[in-house]
Amino acid sequence: MSISFQKVTKSFDDTVALKNFSFEFKKGQTSVLIGSSGCGKSTLLRLVVGLIKHDSGTILIDNQAPVKSNLPFLRKKIGYVIQEGGLFPHLTTKENVSLMAGYTGWDEKKTNDRMNELIRLTKFREDLLDRYPSELSGGQRQRVSLMRALMLEPEFLLLDEPLGSLDPLIRYDLQEDLKDIFERLGKTVILVTHDLHEAVFFADEIILMREGTIVQKGDINEFLKSPSDPFVTKFINAQRSEINFSNEN
Ligand SMILES: Nc1ncnc2c1ncn2[C@@H]1O[C@H](COP(=O)(O)OP(=O)(O)OP(=O)(O)O)[C@@H](O)[C@H]1O
Ligand SMILES: [Mg+2]
Repeated sequence: MSISFQKVTKSFDDTVALKNFSFEFKKGQTSVLIGSSGCGKSTLLRLVVGLIKHDSGTILIDNQAPVKSNLPFLRKKIGYVIQEGGLFPHLTTKENVSLMAGYTGWDEKKTNDRMNELIRLTKFREDLLDRYPSELSGGQRQRVSLMRALMLEPEFLLLDEPLGSLDPLIRYDLQEDLKDIFERLGKTVILVTHDLHEAVFFADEIILMREGTIVQKGDINEFLKSPSDPFVTKFINAQRSEINFSNEN
């Protein structure tokens, strides 16, 4: 139940977004991708869900290479929250969350039971179910995106900056709730963030990327004690004033 990248390369015209990238996203672990804007984080997630196709190398999801014929099957194993949340603006919360269940042929009772579970899990306010995304706060929208991604009980959860633009207090609450959800569900999670503090908070393993490659992977103490490259130290120092590592992990 892992996601494996073996020497994967993906280019867009003359931009190499992912370069010879190898990593095994392990079962039950939260792996956090971090790195400057444009280093290939979202590209990696898009490759996993088959939105784009790699140029070379091998991607295995549960030991299967995604091809056209098995993609719908594999896709159901993966909950994906895109960078801006990706809710359909013309659908209410309830409709957004239950959309895939409808396509999959779940009946109303099964869908409603699952929705009620997710409302409890994500601490979403039930009285907001009939609102449209534009009528929700950023934090509420993020919870809806998460409920939608979790609806079909996926094995894998891919989250692209799920807490990106939230104010610090809401962000803190959602961080705590998300971590609790990951632990309780035992999912294999790939989470993207710009924020080192957040990476440390969530990660079993941090993957620091630059220009489509891995600069260093491991835990933050290894990054601090034995940086693989001056870039690691520079990246940490740039965010360090905001960080207190002492009671993390
Ligand atoms: N569809 C596309 N067409 C052309 N170039 C693309 C496309 N998608 C991504 N790129 C380029 O590939 C590189 C990696 O993009 P990607 O979106 O993966 O970065 P990122 O690490 O997610 O950045 P950010 O932190 O800003 O979200 C960038 O240089 C980007 O401009
Ligand atoms: Mg991105």
